[in-house]
Amino acid sequence: MSDSHMTDIDWDQLRGVATDATKKAYVPYSKYPVGAAALVSDGRIVAGCNVENAGYGVTLCAECGLISDLAMSGGGRLVAFVCVNADGEVIMPCGRCRQLLSEHALPGMLLETVSGIRTMDEVLPDAFGPRDLDATAS
Ligand code: THU
Repeated sequence: MSDSHMTDIDWDQLRGVATDATKKAYVPYSKYPVGAAALVSDGRIVAGCNVENAGYGVTLCAECGLISDLAMSGGGRLVAFVCVNADGEVIMPCGRCRQLLSEHALPGMLLETVSGIRTMDEVLPDAFGPRDLDATAS
């Protein structure tokens, strides 16, 4: 990530996109809408909302929709990420979604968190990843 990309991150805009996404959430069970938004390395913004299911464990977190949006709109690496509740307040991505995000993060990816701007590495240290699979491939 170039330095200019780092400093160009418009967190207000990303939070706004995430807050808009909460309005699309399908949450008949928890009644807890979540919206997620991320900046991609080529400048695009991708987003997602949570989609629940009568089989509760089948629920898709907002981050799942965001990663699908990333793939469907051309792929690439995530540079900056935020997720919010229905009031537009920043919340933390759940543990599973940290793993999901980490696979698609540009090294140094930033997240707006409840304790300020943090790197992916800070919120998921020593992450398991594709390189671990390579290590035993032969
Ligand atoms: N949820 C997300 O969408 N992302 C997270 O990172 C945390 C939890 C959703 C799942 C469920 O629909 C609702 O929040 C309550 O757990």
